Amino acid sequence: MKPRILLKHARMVNEGKVFEGDLRIEDGRIAHIDASLSHRPGEQLVELDGQYLLPGLIDDQVHFREPGLTHKGSIASESRAAVAGGITSYIEQPNTVPAATTLEKLEAKYTLASTQSMANYGFNLGASNDNLDEILRMPAGRYPGVKVFMGSSTGDLLVDDPRAVEALFAQSPHLIITHCEDEATIKANLEAARAQYGDAIPPSMHPLIRSEEACWLSSSKAVELAKKHGSRLHVFHLSTARETSLFDSNLPLEEKKITAEVCIHHLWFDDSAYETKGNLIKWNPAVKTATDREGLWEALLDDRIDVIATDHAPHTLEEKSRPYTSAPSGGPLVQHVLPALFEFVRAGKISIETVVRKMCHNPALLFRIRERGFLREGYFADLCVVDPARPFTVTKDNILYGCGWSPFSGTTFKARVERTFVNGVQVYVRGRFAAEVAGQRLEHEVL
Ligand code: DOR
Repeated sequence: MKPRILLKHARMVNEGKVFEGDLRIEDGRIAHIDASLSHRPGEQLVELDGQYLLPGLIDDQVHFREPGLTHKGSIASESRAAVAGGITSYIEQPNTVPAATTLEKLEAKYTLASTQSMANYGFNLGASNDNLDEILRMPAGRYPGVKVFMGSSTGDLLVDDPRAVEALFAQSPHLIITHCEDEATIKANLEAARAQYGDAIPPSMHPLIRSEEACWLSSSKAVELAKKHGSRLHVFHLSTARETSLFDSNLPLEEKKITAEVCIHHLWFDDSAYETKGNLIKWNPAVKTATDREGLWEALLDDRIDVIATDHAPHTLEEKSRPYTSAPSGGPLVQHVLPALFEFVRAGKISIETVVRKMCHNPALLFRIRERGFLREGYFADLCVVDPARPFTVTKDNILYGCGWSPFSGTTFKARVERTFVNGVQVYVRGRFAAEVAGQRLEHEVL
């Protein structure tokens, strides 16, 4: 029997509105939302004193490294960090070891998560040059989608046979999710950098090697194929202003066939940060110029970009300390995405209602996640409470990632996640975790 809980005096954010009121949790669901609800016997009372109450965040792109790469992170460690950051559901990527390129390997990840994950979970199948049969065997609605690395990143997942890419777009009835960077362009740029610097390429060359052109060639190809075949396409982590022109702003999300995501690091950092942070901000695709960052913000706010995510991708500090050419790309972010977004809210760059739309409502709609992502009676009680004025500084002592570091180290955020509820269970409160593994498998509606 799950606890019955009454949340009093919340400042709720939902479906474009901010309003004061109370919310009752029963049987893991949101039972009532009203301006004032009276306390019932046996009900746990949580006084929120006007703190923000948001739907739990849904992060549509994380790498939790299990199986095979658990020295970097695990489902248990990273889902705890996620929950401490207000994320109650995540979609994990297939570049594990082994890569999740068969339904059997994919189901093994779900089984693992069922005993390990503090947050709700979904796993994408990985496309390869030769697993179209497996993709066609996927039952509708059972998984979030098929991830296609059209450029290589961490791991060996790459679909570089043009016939395989075309066949996938032509035949997949499922959502196709792409990592877009053009391999040949990256290779040529890397060779040119090696000719100039030998093995001592500075990390500031990363956005020139994994260049704007590499992104453009690949994402415009993906959009072209999706238009040609009428496929449902979601392009991950846009990093350049130029790519945003590929996406429409004038359709409601439910009617779009082609959608796009931006990640917090591309909204926060620009290429001036390589000087101080070096490989710690080495991501694929690369953090690019301040003009690119501004273009991404514009596209996010005018709805060409639908979703904000993290691309949480932990590597150890030892790995990130290697020279540029052998340091892996990626960094841990799930614990800090919401405090970072609150900095932009405070600066007037984005409204809290829009943050909730891009990180709660839209991922739920885009992946057709059943009964999550909104504060609605009858929906799962996935919730997070934020105090907008309780600052903290990111330090080794409060970082929860298995890898123990953060690209935000030393940053002071003014807002802090106070509590997180997953399926009606308060799993995180003010720095402490409840013991339960509270996550459930995400379910997806079939159209
Ligand atoms: O920087 C990245 N790291 N980009 C990705 O797409 C993959 C990720 C990883 O898995 O390390």
